[in-house]
Amino acid sequence: MKALLLAGGSGTRLRPLTLNTPKPVVPIFDRPFLYHQIELLKQLPEVDEIILSLNYHPDRIEAVVGRGDDAGLPIRYVVEPRPLGTGGAVKFAAPHLDGTTIVFNGDVLAETDLAALVEHHRTRRARATIVLAPVDDPARYGLVETDGNGNVTRFLEKPDPADITCNTINAGIYVLEPDTFDRIPAETKYSIERRYFPSLVERGDVFTAYVERGYWLDIGTPAAYRQAHRDILDGRCRSGCATLAGPGKATVAGSATVAPTARLREPCFVGSGATVHPEAEIGPHAVLGSGSVVRAAATVRDSVVWPESIIGAGAMLDGAIVGHRCRIGDHARLGPDLVLGDDSTLTPHTRCGALRTTP
Ligand code: GDD
Ligand code: MG
Repeated sequence: MKALLLAGGSGTRLRPLTLNTPKPVVPIFDRPFLYHQIELLKQLPEVDEIILSLNYHPDRIEAVVGRGDDAGLPIRYVVEPRPLGTGGAVKFAAPHLDGTTIVFNGDVLAETDLAALVEHHRTRRARATIVLAPVDDPARYGLVETDGNGNVTRFLEKPDPADITCNTINAGIYVLEPDTFDRIPAETKYSIERRYFPSLVERGDVFTAYVERGYWLDIGTPAAYRQAHRDILDGRCRSGCATLAGPGKATVAGSATVAPTARLREPCFVGSGATVHPEAEIGPHAVLGSGSVVRAAATVRDSVVWPESIIGAGAMLDGAIVGHRCRIGDHARLGPDLVLGDDSTLTPHTRCGALRTTP
């Protein structure tokens, strides 16, 4: 069985982080995001190849993921000549599929029991099965209505508030039969959500829903990206990265250096080769990327710092995301929701973001 990961979007909502690092490989702790999905797919011994459907910076994704040696499953790259949308991308990859296929949006962090999902699909003899997640704000997603037998009766992408009739949305995980792709035009921009799924309902194909009971999150916004780290640190999400962190744990990679007078407030994560200087305070909910440096008496909490960045002495990060190789000046204060792109430099005493506390 093949697994097709739709990972060709440009990740606009995660800019500036995604200007150099495409969304599928943004780090979650110290691993590219896609690896977390691949770990989940490894649950299913039937999956023998991962097909990455790409468009935006495919070379950068290939440079990180390679042929799949680290991932533990062979990877095939299918690069569209131009963005074909989610449905066009599926059609474009179809020649490489060989029957029932698992499809993932390349930005969902989930704990779905894939064996149970595939069994549900087969038992129901479905043409398509979609995983549903309950959420508070369906307007940002694809709304999916079902009947009493768990068949999909309506699919409405990004519904207007007036059209919201339930709280179940498309979790971006599907089991599809490629012979239903006949309705997708070749080499044409086409949305799986706006056209293919509604067409299944219109034609009366067996289109079933599988309700997700475990953890689910689309990591595609800065707030969600930070939330993913908090959820893993708190043990709410136990995907393939469970060994990285857990509630009440301060995880320090073997090659990191933490000064004896530095304070690690659980939960937190200090990546390989990182250095934490005296009197610095890391956590709670701080993630330091590999090779990053936190200088004396700086505080990093509820923040994600990417590799090779330096946080100046006495600086304070609270609710920030800092890209690769940034230089944060001494005593700078970075407040919630601040997102710094790669190579940013902040002069000492800079203040930015909506600061939670102003002494
Ligand atoms: N290959 C390829 N080509 N991939 C694409 C393209 C394209 O033209 N456009 C988007 N993708 C990929 C993105 O990289 C992402 O992994 C996935 O398709 C979904 O795109 P998003 O841009 O993240 O969509 P969304 O989050 O607004 O909505 C989708 O996901 C929700 C769940 O998170 C929809 O599928 C919603 O129905 C769903 O609820
Ligand atoms: Mg998304």
